[in-house]
Amino acid sequence: MRILILNGPNLNLLGHREPDVYGYETLADIETLLRQRAEDLGGIELDFVQSNHEGELIDAIHAHRDWDGIVINGAAFTHSSTAIADALSSITIPAIEVHLTNVHARPETWRHHSFLSPVTWGQVSGFGYRSYLAALDLLYSRVAEEEQNA
Ligand code: DQA
Repeated sequence: MRILILNGPNLNLLGHREPDVYGYETLADIETLLRQRAEDLGGIELDFVQSNHEGELIDAIHAHRDWDGIVINGAAFTHSSTAIADALSSITIPAIEVHLTNVHARPETWRHHSFLSPVTWGQVSGFGYRSYLAALDLLYSRVAEEEQNA
């Protein structure tokens, strides 16, 4: 099983960027936790891509379209990018939208709308780094079930 973990703009600064909002874990810490979890689940292959550029995120979605699933934190592009939404619509594998913060509870109302939600399997929002771990578990259980039923 192969799963892409895709992170959008400014997430490279995690751990330093508004840590009271986004937490003290760096993206590298989150990668370590996910790799550990992937091993515990029986050796899921993970690829990690982070970019501050919309087109690079779209390229990564295209390049992984024959993988088994995508965990995507589109960061601010969540709230603006019809192009990333179209990229997710263009592929057939499931994607889960994740956010460290509960975007619906944030004071900025522009964070309450997501262009990605309508084209993803679902959203995990508000659990800090645990959002990523939950999304990995959910994709694993879906793909494993589909493989069993195939
Ligand atoms: C975020 C929430 C977005 O609104 C914000 O632009 C981010 C991070 C989150 O993980 O909570 O950069 O996606």
